[in-house]
Amino acid sequence: MVRSTAIAAAVAALALQTDAAGLYPKSSKVVQVDSTNYDRLIAKSNYTSIVEFYAPWCGHCKNLQPAYEKAAKSLEGIAKVAAVNCDEEFNKPLCSKMGVQGFPTLKIVRPGKKAGKPTVEDYQGPREAKAIVEIVKDKVPNNVKRVTDAKLDEWLAEHKNSPKVILFSEKGAISATLRTLAIDFAGLVPIAQIKKSESGAVEKYGITKFPALVLLKAGSDEPIKYDGAMEKKGMVEFLSQVAPPNPDCPPAKAKKDSKKKEKKDEKKESKFSKASASHKSSEASSAATSAADETLEEANKPTESPNPNLKDEDTPAPVVIEEVTPAIPVIAEASELQASCLTEKSKTCILAILPKDESAETATAAVASLATIHKKHDGLKTNLFPFIGVPASNPVAASLLKELSLGSDDKVHLVATNGKRSWYKKYSGSTYGLIEVEVWVDAIRMDEGKKEKLPESLLVAVPTEEVKEEKAAEPEPAQIEIEEIVEEAEASPVVDPEPSVPDHGEL
Ligand SMILES: *[C@@H]1O[C@H](CO)[C@@H](O)[C@H](O)[C@H]1NC(C)=O
Repeated sequence: MVRSTAIAAAVAALALQTDAAGLYPKSSKVVQVDSTNYDRLIAKSNYTSIVEFYAPWCGHCKNLQPAYEKAAKSLEGIAKVAAVNCDEEFNKPLCSKMGVQGFPTLKIVRPGKKAGKPTVEDYQGPREAKAIVEIVKDKVPNNVKRVTDAKLDEWLAEHKNSPKVILFSEKGAISATLRTLAIDFAGLVPIAQIKKSESGAVEKYGITKFPALVLLKAGSDEPIKYDGAMEKKGMVEFLSQVAPPNPDCPPAKAKKDSKKKEKKDEKKESKFSKASASHKSSEASSAATSAADETLEEANKPTESPNPNLKDEDTPAPVVIEEVTPAIPVIAEASELQASCLTEKSKTCILAILPKDESAETATAAVASLATIHKKHDGLKTNLFPFIGVPASNPVAASLLKELSLGSDDKVHLVATNGKRSWYKKYSGSTYGLIEVEVWVDAIRMDEGKKEKLPESLLVAVPTEEVKEEKAAEPEPAQIEIEEIVEEAEASPVVDPEPSVPDHGEL
């Protein structure tokens, strides 16, 4: 507090800005946005942003601050982490227009189909650094093309006249770092990702270690190999030898090397744009001002956001994650697995399809996360659907991989299935930490998000005894008490003590 006040005071003395009461110091990685620059910095940006609408007096906002700062550091170069102080009179129309009804409200804003018309959605995940980072990364659009040996020539021919970049990776998932690199160089340098298993391409370019980033200049097939760290900054510099990156938001500004200069530029610009901005939003402002006043007054109680997941004075101590590797039931028999989860009457199951090498890092991480989540729910008696490990030796594993196009059998795959309602849902993350897996499980519990149609070929007829039992069509237990489940679950958030989430190593 003392520190931020001192900095704020110094800044005020420099007459740069006067919101000395804001929560984030000027040195913060959290971009402070206001009604004069929101449009330019966020709405019209090619980047994905998370925006916190807050009031400095709000306790939940203060509690969020450290996690939000941490998320901003982790997401540097990948997504914008921004904050709007809704206590400022001149920000009120903006906050009201964004539908802010309680503090803090977090929204994810990303480029829509039409330029300048972003897609805005509420951030519903846990208010913890790691979850914020993972969820925001997940939202970064992908322009990276996955290329196989069979398609390589076609891709090269298609981009014959421009420089191109290929990332050779052991992984199939495209990292957020690479996705943002593709955004920085959209329209300038097409980017492909090729898996290690594509031996033709790997040999052609003499790739021996993974990940490897190679640049092909226009008209050349001679690979220029990147030898720096797999981090955004170095990669951008490497690509800059063929083209300067796109500005992330209009208008083209001076480079980020001098913060002071940028601030001054911004200040100048905002003076210019103030007139038009306020003109544009004048309709909204006048209509909104009175409503906004009311809303904001009312907001002086704890957050009304749908998913308040904050540590608070009255929150019990965090659940400690045990070191012993917890387990989930594993079913090796095809018929047993089918009877449990793959009949036309089966309710939701979460299957962890294990690779042959069950000690592979992703497999143990996924199983540990699932087991921890299930254990927590067992403790809360929430009657959570079963989590089942499916070893590679179970013949159903291969059919699931094939029918659901899950990909290679050398890594773990998580998939939720529901035979009765005929859907399935893949886990699409590339890491299997507790938080990201729990976010996925929660979405299934809450019946949120897109599901895909479960191929009929995976379902078997209902064993006869079960038909009788199921006759009285009872509702799904996992769906009944959702409200309660959520509240209870949130009373004891599982806290990751040190979410350190640098992006490298993810490629
Ligand atoms: C955004 O990306 C496009 C290419 O998709 C690029 O032309 C533009 O310069 C980038 N920056 C802004 C601010 O639109």
